[in-house]
Amino acid sequence: MTSFTSHSADLAGPTAFPWLADGLAYGGDYSPEQWPEEVWADDVALMQRAGVNLVNLGVFSWGLLEVADGEFDWGWLDRIMDLLHDGGIGVNLATPTAAPPTWLLQAHPEIATVDADGRRTAQGGRLAWSPSSATFRRYALRLVRAMAERYGDHPALRMWHVSNELGNENARCYGEETAAAWREWLTSRYGEVAAMNDAWGSAFWGHRYTSFAQVEPPRHNRTQHNPGLLLDFERFTSDALLGHYLAERAVLREVTPAIPVTTNFMVQANPGVADYGRWAEEVDLVANDHYTIGADPHREADLAFCADRSRGMAGGRPWLLIEHSTAAVNWQPVNRAKAPGEMARNTLAHIARGADGAMFFQWRQSTAGSEQFHSAMVPHAGADSQVYRDVVALGATLQSLAPVVGSRVERAQVAMLFDHEAAAAWASGPKPSSLVTAVDLPRAVHRALTELGIAVDVLRPGDALDGYRALVVPTLFLATDATADAVRDFAESGGHVLVTYLSGIVDETNRVRPGGYPGAFRDLLGVRVDEFFPLFAGDTVALDDGTTGSQWTERVEIADGTEVLARLADGDLAGTPAVTRRSAGAGSATYLATRLDHDGLVALVRAFAAHAGVTAVAAVDGPGMEVVRRVHDDGRSFLFAINHAASDRTVAATGRDLTDGTATEGRLGVPAGAVRVIEEDPR
Ligand code: GAL
Repeated sequence: MTSFTSHSADLAGPTAFPWLADGLAYGGDYSPEQWPEEVWADDVALMQRAGVNLVNLGVFSWGLLEVADGEFDWGWLDRIMDLLHDGGIGVNLATPTAAPPTWLLQAHPEIATVDADGRRTAQGGRLAWSPSSATFRRYALRLVRAMAERYGDHPALRMWHVSNELGNENARCYGEETAAAWREWLTSRYGEVAAMNDAWGSAFWGHRYTSFAQVEPPRHNRTQHNPGLLLDFERFTSDALLGHYLAERAVLREVTPAIPVTTNFMVQANPGVADYGRWAEEVDLVANDHYTIGADPHREADLAFCADRSRGMAGGRPWLLIEHSTAAVNWQPVNRAKAPGEMARNTLAHIARGADGAMFFQWRQSTAGSEQFHSAMVPHAGADSQVYRDVVALGATLQSLAPVVGSRVERAQVAMLFDHEAAAAWASGPKPSSLVTAVDLPRAVHRALTELGIAVDVLRPGDALDGYRALVVPTLFLATDATADAVRDFAESGGHVLVTYLSGIVDETNRVRPGGYPGAFRDLLGVRVDEFFPLFAGDTVALDDGTTGSQWTERVEIADGTEVLARLADGDLAGTPAVTRRSAGAGSATYLATRLDHDGLVALVRAFAAHAGVTAVAAVDGPGMEVVRRVHDDGRSFLFAINHAASDRTVAATGRDLTDGTATEGRLGVPAGAVRVIEEDPR
C-alpha cells in the first residue's frame, strides 16, 4: 500500500559537498591563459570582492600546457594555482581534454570525429575528437596522469572537472574506428546476430544481417534508418562518451584517490546524447550547465524543470550548477541580455531546487576567440559595470544563504517520470508528428504544477516511487515492461497516476506494442486508441469542459468502468474522450489524449492534485510565483519564494528572512521580480 510519508524519513545519507567551499560554492570558468599575468592579481581581488570561492580552471588549456608532443609547460598553471590558493579561492581543475591542441590534430587527424556524411572535423574548434579513438585516448590519459601527479597535492585543488560537456560538439561519430567500437558494443549487447535482427525488426526492407561485421553506423542515407538501430546507436554513443569519462576518472582515482571527480552535464539538451541518469552514478557530484533561451517567454519554467531533473539524477542530494550565464550568450539567434534581477532569480532558483553552488561561464569576458561576445562576471566594460555590481551583490546574498548548505529539497508529493531513452526513441526515425517533442509536455506539466505551488520530483523509470501520492507519466514514448508494472503497482497500491498521449507506445527495442495504444498502459488506464490524429501547426481543438487542445488528438475508446472527464467538442473526433479516469486498485489512473494549453493544463493538474490529496508547498496568490522548500535533517527549513511576475505577490510564510533578518508571520510579500528566502519557524 503506497502511503505518503513526510520528507524527514528520506533525509538520511550524504548531503553536502564540504570539500568544495565554505558555504555555497560561487564562481565561474576562469581562463587566466587568455590574459597577461598582470591581470591575474586584479582577478583575484575582484573575485574576493564578489565572494567567489571556487573556479573551474584550465578547461580548454591543453595546447598551452602540452606545447608539443610530450613537452609540458606547467609554469603558468603553477603560478595561478598558487595565486588562487593565496587568495582563498578553491580550484575545480579541468582535465583540459575538451580541446585537443593543433599539433595533435595535425599529427593524428584520425582522432577527429566524422559526421554522417563522412566529413572529418577540421582543426580550429573544440571537442574535435572521437571517444572511440585509441590514439586520442592515449594522449588524453597521458596528460591527465601528468596533471594529476603535478597538482594532486596542491592545496587549492577541490575537485577534478573531467573535460567539458562530453558529447556536446563531439556527439555521434560515424568514422571507421567508431564503427568497429559500435560492432563490439552490439556484440556484447546481443551475443547473437539473430537477437539483434529480432530486436530491430530487420526483416523490414530485407535488412537482415548475417554477422555483426555487416553493421555500419547510421551514415548518410537518402531514406531513413531503422529506429531500433538508431536508438541503439544513441545508447552506444552515450556509453562511448561515458567510457572516456571513466577512463580519465580511473587515472585520477589511481593518482589522487581523495579528490572527487565530476564532469559537467547538459541536462537541458533535448534529447541530447548522454543518458545522464546513468552517468550520474559515476560522478561524485552531479554538476549541470544551464542556459536560459532568451526568446523563450517561460525560460524560468525550463530552468525549474532542468534543475529538478538534475536533483533527480543526484538522488535528491545537493548538486552543483556549474555553468550558467550572467547575461547574454553568443550562440542564440539574438543574444538577449538578462533583465534587471534575472541573473539573481535564475541563480536562486537553482539553489532553491537543490544546488549547493552556482557558477558561471565565465569569469572575465574574452576579448578574442569565438566567445568574445559571451557575457561573463567581469564584462568587457570592467568592474565599473552593472553586471559586476550585480555579481558582487549576488555573492553577498549567497553568503547569507550559507545555512542552506547541505539541506535537501523537501520530498515532493508528486513524482514525474522523464527518461533519456524514451526521448531518444521519439527522436529516432519518422514519427506521426514532428511538432511534438519529448520535452514539451513534461516541461508544460511541470510548469502548471509549479504555478500551483506544487513540488515535483523528476525521476527516471526504475527509481523508487514509494511515498509519493501522485505520479505523472507525460509522453513517455518508450516504456519497458518493468516501467509498466511499476506504474500499475503504484496506482494499485493507492497512488494516483496521470498518463498522457504518446506514452508506452514502444518497448525497449523501439518496437511498437501492438493491440492498440498506449500499449504499456492500456489496461491500467482502461482506454484503447486505434488511430492517431495529430493536428497541424496552429490548429486547435475545443474540449467540452471549455479547455483547448493542440498538436495531438487520437481516437480513444474506453473500457467498462472508465469515466470520461472531458470530450473533444469539435474536429474529426468530436465526441470522443479526451480526458478519462478509472479506479485502479486503491488508486486511480487518469489519461490525457491531447496537448492542453497552459490554462487547460493548470485546470487539469489542479483537479488531479485535489483528487490525489496533493497539497502546495505554500499557498501562493497568483501565477509567476515559484515556491520551494529545502530542509535539513534536524528539521530546520527554508522557504524560497521567487516572484517572476510583473506584479507583487504574497506567499504563506512564518520565519525570518535569511538575508536581512526581517521577521515575517502569516504572509510574506514578495515584490515583482524579487526573491525571498525565509528560515521558517518550526512547523
Ligand atoms: C557551454 C560550454 C562553455 C561555453 C558556454 C557558452 O556549453 O561548456 O565552455 O562555451 O557553453 O554558453
